[in-house]
Amino acid sequence: MWNPGEILIDDQLIDQLCNLLAASGLTMALTGAGISAGSGIPTFRGLQGLWEKYDIMEYAHIDAFMSNPAKVWQMLTELDATINMAKPNPAHTALAQLEEMGLLRMIVTQNVDNLHQDAGSREVVEFHGNASKFRCLDCRTAHERHQVNLADMPPRCACGGLVKPDVVFFGEAIPWAANVKAFETARRAELILVVGTSAVVAPASEIPVAAKRAGGKVVEINPEPTVLTRGITDLFLQGSAEDVLPMVVERLKANRH
Ligand code: OAD
Repeated sequence: MWNPGEILIDDQLIDQLCNLLAASGLTMALTGAGISAGSGIPTFRGLQGLWEKYDIMEYAHIDAFMSNPAKVWQMLTELDATINMAKPNPAHTALAQLEEMGLLRMIVTQNVDNLHQDAGSREVVEFHGNASKFRCLDCRTAHERHQVNLADMPPRCACGGLVKPDVVFFGEAIPWAANVKAFETARRAELILVVGTSAVVAPASEIPVAAKRAGGKVVEINPEPTVLTRGITDLFLQGSAEDVLPMVVERLKANRH
């Protein structure tokens, strides 16, 4: 039965993506919040987005954290509870399968939810850090989740310093090694899959552009067009990642037999 909210995924586009994957000597993926939407983690932008509820400058900038850590920790605790319950969805699994099949070299993710690793992906570059890791801003000691006392806001280290999740806030630098690895790979990639990101936050948004400039093909998987779709993207598969990516893996497997 026709469901008005449903987006039909063009079979020929799935075939085209399979052909690109099979022909590419180096394929990478850039993922964003949309790939985890199917796991129950809200995206940042859009109607139900986190930044609709929380003002970015009041909650996501490092200056906001430093000036009122208890307030920012309140949002972080809510996010942490959601992430903690989340499980990988078929989109994460499909990317792990593509790596296993030798068709995907690396995932660069803007997500901090660890779901790519939980799904079995091995080569994952965490561009914005990981929300299950914590660090003291004074003595730099790493803390595990269970060592962080959330009953006492804001949580503090034994040295008295503020504890912060190892995620990149606005106004903070991208982890150096992640930045270098992502852009070096983008410049060598023959194909980049851009999945579930609005591609509006730099420098992550520049990764597909770098790949394109160096001659790589850009494929986007997203229910909505983005700023990349008209000028940068070569192939746009309009749909949810958890629908499209498993279809691609199934088709590739069928083609191998
Ligand atoms: P956004 O919330 O900006 O964009 C999410 C994208 O996912 C949108 O383009 C949606 O159309 C798409 N989407 C929604 N559901 C989807 C689904 N089921 N399958 C595929 N796509 C879907 O999230 P990001 O682009 O990840 O940074 O945001 C980038 C950065 O902005 C984040 O890493 C975070 C945020 O502020 C920091 O906090 C530093």
